[in-house]
Amino acid sequence: MNNFFITTPIYYVNDKPHIGHAYTTIACDIISRFKKLDGENVFFLTGTDEHGQKVEKAAIKSSTNPQDFVNKMSLNFEKLIPFLGCQINDFIRTTEKRHIKATQYLWNQLKDNNQIYLSNYEGWYSVRDEAFYTESELTKNGDQLIATSGAPVEWVKEESYFFKLSHWQDKLINFYEKNPEAILPKSRYNEVLSFIKGGLKDLSISRTTFNWGVPVPNDHKHVMYVWIDALCNYITALGYPNFEKKKYKDFWPGTHIVGKDILRFHAVYWPAFLMAADLPPPKRIFAHGWWTNEGKKISKSIGNVINPYEIIKQYGLDQIRYFLFREVPFGNDGDFSKDSIAQRVNADLSNNYGNLIQRVAIFIVKNCNSKVIKHSKINEEDEKLINFFELKFKEYKNQMQAFQIDRALKSIFELLSETNSYVDKQAPWSLKKTDFERMNNVLFLICNIIIKCSIMLNPIIPESTNKALKIFNIDPLTINFTNFSNMINNDIIITNPKPIFPRIN
Ligand code: MSP
Repeated sequence: MNNFFITTPIYYVNDKPHIGHAYTTIACDIISRFKKLDGENVFFLTGTDEHGQKVEKAAIKSSTNPQDFVNKMSLNFEKLIPFLGCQINDFIRTTEKRHIKATQYLWNQLKDNNQIYLSNYEGWYSVRDEAFYTESELTKNGDQLIATSGAPVEWVKEESYFFKLSHWQDKLINFYEKNPEAILPKSRYNEVLSFIKGGLKDLSISRTTFNWGVPVPNDHKHVMYVWIDALCNYITALGYPNFEKKKYKDFWPGTHIVGKDILRFHAVYWPAFLMAADLPPPKRIFAHGWWTNEGKKISKSIGNVINPYEIIKQYGLDQIRYFLFREVPFGNDGDFSKDSIAQRVNADLSNNYGNLIQRVAIFIVKNCNSKVIKHSKINEEDEKLINFFELKFKEYKNQMQAFQIDRALKSIFELLSETNSYVDKQAPWSLKKTDFERMNNVLFLICNIIIKCSIMLNPIIPESTNKALKIFNIDPLTINFTNFSNMINNDIIITNPKPIFPRIN
């Protein structure tokens, strides 16, 4: 059995979760559910990033001590996971003992390997991004200098430990040239490679002007830079520094899904830290795009932040999961608009998929005593549809393996449209009067395809497809892709067909 480790970024707890956080978590859930159906042994990790100046400032603003503040805020993220229909294996918090121990161990490894030195940092820092910037990356907005992300920067001058990032430039280039799929999509791979080729400077990795961080071993005047602490979460959760732990052995290196804004940390700093500590770099990093709201950048100051609880209560969980991953190619930016949600849900889920299930299931209940007899007699028309199914299933699997979720969904819906046309053309309601056996055979093929499409859709819309499968008397706990071609080996009994996707007005 293949092992597969997938992670979300760990979320800053300075504020409540919004649609951007929900998006990354659902993406990982979709991929992890797909991998499980495909027979892989999956470990899905998420959690919260609780140190650093940004979180400390938020705690001070709410007049709470930082530990109480992060305890409370982290719960908002933990509780959101089941609400999003996500099934995780571990939730890590960077203020946990296991993590502080792992981070200090990693630091000591870097120190022992002569990768860290003490000097002075003088330059620009953005607390909002928790990132250092060079002068050339800044623009002026009135009197305030701002980074490309739009975040304000401030001048920082303090003693700091540095990581010898510059030493890793050639090794990183070499690694990525040998592993062209280690960063996806391709455009992001090119972007990272050209950034590295542009030259890497040593990285400041400790701060002395605040306390809310992991103490640097043997020099408690310094706390670690929040990103070295945060990135380490991915191996802490696997039991690092205990390499003998089964989890570490089975699951490292893993796959990270991140937003485009934090790609550099994951694709440059993180593999360099790992290699410098004699550990293998991540297997794959996928950078997704950003959502806007009705054409506008999402921001607290505009007041257009999308609350995942509200939007899911309004439209339904699977409706939102489907919309987020069908509307926009995974990797591109997307616009969240209420009109587009309604259009997508009505056209695809209600009309195409939902209506196919309804018309077929109700017909079988009314005309066949709720039962379709298993058979293997097929004609040319059936064979055409079966071949089309085989083709789309193959496309779907390749697309899901490449994280092209929107394209995989498109393949399924092409198949569903074709199946709807087949129903119209074969017209079981006419066959009922002329050739009952042929009618049965047509229905058996249609039910087969509905069941298989439901399984293919299961990683994206699990709750609804489980309902659909139950209508066809298939136990959702038994589904997978490994016995896919000979799965439906019995008569099909229809139970309780109720509409699954009400139309949105
Ligand atoms: N704590 C760091 C990650 C450390 S990982 C070792 C962090 N946290 S975050 O809470 O600010 O952001 C988490 C994720 O949310 C990022 O991947 C970011 O891209 C994503 N999003 C935040 N706003 C978003 C949108 N408007 N749209 C899509 N994703 C967005 O960064």
